[in-house]
Amino acid sequence: MDLFDRHWATYRSIVDHDYMEHRAATAVAAHLLRERVGAHETGAPPPRTVDLGCGDLALLGPTLRHLPLSSYEGIDIAANVLPLAERSLEGAPYPRRFVVGDLLAWAEGKVPDDDGRPADLLLSSFAVHHLHDDEKEQFFRAARRRSTRGAPFLWNDLFREPAESLASYVARYSRRVRETWTALDPEEREQVVEHLSTLDHPADREAITGLLEAAGWRWQWVWRGHHSAEAMLLLEAA
Ligand SMILES: C[S@@+](CC[C@H](N)C(=O)[O-])C[C@H]1O[C@@H](n2cnc3c(N)ncnc32)[C@H](O)[C@@H]1O
Repeated sequence: MDLFDRHWATYRSIVDHDYMEHRAATAVAAHLLRERVGAHETGAPPPRTVDLGCGDLALLGPTLRHLPLSSYEGIDIAANVLPLAERSLEGAPYPRRFVVGDLLAWAEGKVPDDDGRPADLLLSSFAVHHLHDDEKEQFFRAARRRSTRGAPFLWNDLFREPAESLASYVARYSRRVRETWTALDPEEREQVVEHLSTLDHPADREAITGLLEAAGWRWQWVWRGHHSAEAMLLLEAA
């Protein structure tokens, strides 16, 4: 996946300039995680946590490092980011594992050396939109089977507006990149446009909720960015 294995520096620059509103999304995620997991008085055992498309954990790492998790497993298809993720969680007081793998394959128990145990907490940020719609359906059904009842799944991602076609979404997001992501040089902007035109398949934000319910997830929107694209759902395994 070009942008993430060959051009991670471009993605870092996007994050550093907050072009995809990572800061606001991370603040919401950090608050929810501390509330759900950090509060010892809930009496719940520490969660076995799996992060699908974890990237380098540059933003969420500092929060995760201080949460009372039972374990953390970061799965990413790009091998080059995993040592960075590992470093972000250095010193955390729970076992950590970083695995090169596909998130759909993980949900279906097809990642090599996976013990198949269910997760108590799932995280995924800006990764599931790389699946086609039929794969998303497969993924959410399989991820539900791999989650304990009541397990939260914090899902941050890109979404299309209700009934917006993929072509319209690509056109408006490409315009946004070309016109406003000016800290990137023109070649980097075109790398991003190439990536989003060929590899991104954001879900329709209205249609996805029906699919989630059918797959066994309760859902609520917990954050929406300013560009009718970035948004976060808090799911719970029904
Ligand atoms: C946009 S980055 C997001 C990284 C990080 N979660 C964040 O929010 O900054 C997308 C990440 O998902 C990974 N990814 C994309 N498709 C994937 C898949 N099918 N399975 C596992 N990882 C995937 C990429 O390699 C990349 O590290």
